Amino acid sequence: MITGYSKKVMDHFLHPKHLGKIKNPDGKGDTENLRCGDIMKVYIKISKNKKGEELIKDIKFETLGCAAAIASSDMICDLAKGKTLQEAKKIGFKDVASELGFLPSPKLHCANLAESALKMAIANYEKRKK
Ligand code: FES
Repeated sequence: MITGYSKKVMDHFLHPKHLGKIKNPDGKGDTENLRCGDIMKVYIKISKNKKGEELIKDIKFETLGCAAAIASSDMICDLAKGKTLQEAKKIGFKDVASELGFLPSPKLHCANLAESALKMAIANYEKRKK
């Protein structure tokens, strides 16, 4: 373990499952933390379930940042994939941090950045739809 990160943080940092870009995404979130300079992009593809509810069929991220930012990006993709948009909108940085096991408090803003990127991607999709 490095610098107090949990094993789960290190796993998601070293072996992210959702790293990459979606071609022609239905929504895109693009965020930056002005203090640390970390950049995070989230891409989503939307489809509908049998009830006709919109859900996140696919999700990927590109992050230029610290280990916690990369792990948080990958975790928010895990949490959001397959969820309806209503469910995905409720995913917050605390969910990301607790699923990661532990994030040192100076690194909570990394999870916050992931929450913002997902919310922006959903908002971007809803705006395009109109
Ligand atoms: Fe800023 Fe990680 S140090 S997002």
